[in-house]
Amino acid sequence: MSVLKRILQFVRAVTAKVSVDDGKYISAHLNAEEQKIFFAMSVADQVHSLRTAYTIERLVIEDKRGVDREFLIRCALLHDVGRRAGDLTIRGKIFAVLITGLAPKLAERLEVNGNRSLYVYHNHAEIGGRKLQKIGLFKEAKIIARHHAPPKPDDPLELKLLRLADNEN
Ligand SMILES: [Fe+2]
Ligand SMILES: [Fe+2]
Repeated sequence: MSVLKRILQFVRAVTAKVSVDDGKYISAHLNAEEQKIFFAMSVADQVHSLRTAYTIERLVIEDKRGVDREFLIRCALLHDVGRRAGDLTIRGKIFAVLITGLAPKLAERLEVNGNRSLYVYHNHAEIGGRKLQKIGLFKEAKIIARHHAPPKPDDPLELKLLRLADNEN
């Protein structure tokens, strides 16, 4: 995704809010433990994850291959839980997006030298996967840990749909 698209996506998410209907949707699809890690994300990431779930709903209807809808909605809502609000601040995220897009070599060097924002930004898929394993969501963890990995032809359909929905939002 281009840097400009990422910035626009980001601005849209920062200005959005979780509505009452969104709240109902979250309680309908996530249990208490899952909600705890969902709400540990920044509001911007909560909104992004909700939008990703709504897109998934559309894709599941369009795609007739019989995927597990509930499972996919859970994956969409939880796919970025590796980015906990305190671990990746808004400022940290802007920094990570810009530096990764404009100076990837420098970004790599800073990350190796212990830059926390860059580490969380680049590894949130794996971090999220570990977090989900801890609460017993092993199947979800497997998909989510790979949502930013380079696509492979034999990727599970659920992972392909999650990536599509994520990129739209
Ligand atoms: Fe992500
Ligand atoms: Fe995402």
